[in-house]
Amino acid sequence: MESINDFIKAKEKNKKITMVSTYDYWSARLCQMAEIDCLLVGDSVGMVVSGYETTLPVTIDEMIYHGKAVKRGAPDTFVTVDMPFLSYQVSKEEAVKNAGRILKETGCNAVKIEGGEEIAEIAEKMISVGIPVMGHLGLTPQSVHALGGYKVQGRTEEDQKKIIKDAKILEQAGVFAVVLEAVPTSLAKKVTEVLQIPTIGIGAGKETDGQVLVFHDMLGFFEKSPKFVKRYMEGGSLIKKTLKEFKKDVEQGLFPSEEHSYG
Ligand code: KIV
Repeated sequence: MESINDFIKAKEKNKKITMVSTYDYWSARLCQMAEIDCLLVGDSVGMVVSGYETTLPVTIDEMIYHGKAVKRGAPDTFVTVDMPFLSYQVSKEEAVKNAGRILKETGCNAVKIEGGEEIAEIAEKMISVGIPVMGHLGLTPQSVHALGGYKVQGRTEEDQKKIIKDAKILEQAGVFAVVLEAVPTSLAKKVTEVLQIPTIGIGAGKETDGQVLVFHDMLGFFEKSPKFVKRYMEGGSLIKKTLKEFKKDVEQGLFPSEEHSYG
């Protein structure tokens, strides 16, 4: 993916989009080498890397720090950066200033914001000054307290209608893609069918135009993962085993050997 136009083209061609949430140079570099279509510098960094309970404490400076690292690791990949909680909800002016800062300082390609109708005018303003915006509906983690926890959304008919309406409003506002998080497959299918722009799902079933997973989740770095995560490797166990080997080698005088020493 080089630009927002490639997102629409992918949908038109029925080509599934792959996106990975990643936060640093080395993982972004590996994603680019693996030809992942696009990267997301998610505010999930607050939970995954910093160990916060929610994404709420994450700051713009932190997102910029991680955005710069990711772009250095994946200079030829389309990178979207999450705008953290309260960096865009307060006013259009603040949203434009903060999003502009993110793009200027990181060199990344777009920003992502959470919400539907309530942030549509803000999205529209950002887009009107040349800032590409990705939407995010369903389970929107910045609203975790208002939603009463990390729960599947769109279970009732009323909620489903709202999510479909919000998706249409976001498309009308000019967003180039929408993340759908933790919604039933049937709802994700409906949203995907009514939009011209692609949907990228996480815990939204297989009918979306693309899929996103968090790097650390898909590689099994944590002991447990949510139902929607496929663990492509058991990275945590592998790393733990390797660290134990290092400790044992040092304690038994097996490391460093001559091979790893200067003569
Ligand atoms: O913060 C994040 O990584 C995200 C994805 C899970 C979509 O928003």
